[in-house]
Amino acid sequence: MPCEGIYTPCLLPIAEIVEETRDIKTFRIPRPEHFVYRPGQFAGIFVPGVGEAPFSISSSPTEGTFLEFSIKRIGSVTQALHRLNPGDMVGLRGPYGNGFPIEELLGKHLLFVGGGIGLAPLRSLINYVLSPEHRSSFGDVFILYGARTPQDLVFRWELKRWEERDDLTLCLTVDEGDASWEGRVGLVPNVLREVFSFPCTGWVSIVCGPPIMIKFTIKALRELGFAPGDIITTLEMKMKCGLGKCGRCNIGPYYVCQDGPVFSYETLLKMPEEY
Ligand SMILES: Cc1cc2nc3c(=O)[nH]c(=O)nc-3n(C[C@H](O)[C@H](O)[C@H](O)COP(=O)(O)OP(=O)(O)OC[C@H]3O[C@@H](n4cnc5c(N)ncnc54)[C@H](O)[C@@H]3O)c2cc1C
Ligand code: FES
Repeated sequence: MPCEGIYTPCLLPIAEIVEETRDIKTFRIPRPEHFVYRPGQFAGIFVPGVGEAPFSISSSPTEGTFLEFSIKRIGSVTQALHRLNPGDMVGLRGPYGNGFPIEELLGKHLLFVGGGIGLAPLRSLINYVLSPEHRSSFGDVFILYGARTPQDLVFRWELKRWEERDDLTLCLTVDEGDASWEGRVGLVPNVLREVFSFPCTGWVSIVCGPPIMIKFTIKALRELGFAPGDIITTLEMKMKCGLGKCGRCNIGPYYVCQDGPVFSYETLLKMPEEY
């Protein structure tokens, strides 16, 4: 169904649902032709009869005809989404937000640091960078991803695919291991200090995860020598319109839904600490 007006979602059938963890599912829907986006942008997903919430697009625009959203069960909208099945209809509005500054990343080495569901927006950019048409435009790729337990790691089949590539380094960590886990155990910022042993010249770090993880990861990056302008992160404020109109998401003069959700740490330092 065509989308009419900025507040009217277009209704689309869910094509596929992947159960990532006990409380996160990835929903695949067809991408309408008009929906042209860049990694780091988000969309409003509407469940008829329940309501709407904003979610990062976790698929890469290089993947063509579909969109994916990886959604953690939290409250009314996300619980309703988790009850849906393939073939059920959801509404889509967007894309919204600024997305990652891809032009500024060209030619740089990229250090991705993700925690939990925070890998969702990073995944869009990672798969964009790794796509055959873009890989040669970027330098080295280092991905550090952590979750609370091995069962909380998302995109497991994709992590396996990334692990098999010889043009990137993937490092996984969990806060708490179990009998089957042979990887690292430790909090993301601490593991970052251990595993990232390169001079940081030419590197940009893109960080996404829970606020506490972002805070301590930025501290670690600063200790490793990253300048504030070379640290990029995303903010998750509460939002309603996604269009810079309702004032729900503003921090000082910034509307996170339009000026963000992607910000450099250099910009965050100029903002009131309301995030
Ligand atoms: C730009 C952006 C991108 C996002 N991307 C994703 C994503 O890729 N995957 C994902 O799972 N979630 C994402 N979120 C968070 C998601 O929007 C919320 O989890 C969702 O709105 C919760 O809706 P609900 O109706 O299920 O919960 P509600 O019933 O509205 O709320 C349940 C609880 O969660 C709190 N809450 C709701 N929204 C937020 C929020 N944005 N920040 C902090 N606390 C909140 C409420 O205060 C309440 O305590 C994103 C949010 C933003 C702003
Ligand atoms: S969500 Fe309405 S102004 Fe940002």
